[in-house]
Amino acid sequence: MAISARQQGASDHATYRPERGAIVALSPALDPATRAEFDAWGPGKYDPRHHAFDGTNLLSLNRRSLPIVLPPIYGLKGVGFETFSADGPISYWNAYVGVGQMGGQGPFHDPRIDLFITQTPDLVTPKLPALLDYQLSLRTPEPSKGSFDRQAANRGKRLFRNQAGCATCHQGRTSRTC
Ligand code: HEC
Repeated sequence: MAISARQQGASDHATYRPERGAIVALSPALDPATRAEFDAWGPGKYDPRHHAFDGTNLLSLNRRSLPIVLPPIYGLKGVGFETFSADGPISYWNAYVGVGQMGGQGPFHDPRIDLFITQTPDLVTPKLPALLDYQLSLRTPEPSKGSFDRQAANRGKRLFRNQAGCATCHQGRTSRTC
């Protein structure tokens, strides 16, 4: 899947919406019911908790599929508990995807979802710090011209900072911390 054509770290909104589920559903290894679930995901979506891969087998996790639009991973420097599902920090999710979704060779253990994958030697964990540094270096890009109403945004900014009092809690560079 080429990521060079778009802003690295961006979510799958307007411009880049590959049908991941439909592509996986083409696999002859899947039974018809599983194929139908993948097929139902729709453009730009992915269900990261539908299944995991332990290096040999596809393990079933959530059996009602809940596909989501992939969230952006830029602009997260300074944000605590930064994965949108709040399952854990970025490196938790990197390990989960690297091992459990992409088949990387390493460990992933999470009793909350009853998932225990162990593959040795561990080629994933030593790479997590550098991957995190890279992800935290991704800055939120300026929105493209004409993609929003600047006057309305300025009115909202004044509301946020003044009358509505949002900025009494939401402060700092990302406006996301308390
Ligand atoms: C008293 C402190 C406080 C005030 C005032 C406040 N917020 Fe929040 N806001 C929070 C906290 C804490 C969270 C995180 C809640 C969570 O993640 O469960 C939050 C979360 C949010 C989120 C979700 C952000 C994300 O990335 O998921 C949005 C959007 C938001 N607030 C908007 C507003 C707006 C708009 C106002 C003003 C009308 C406002 N907040 C006023 C404390 C506040």
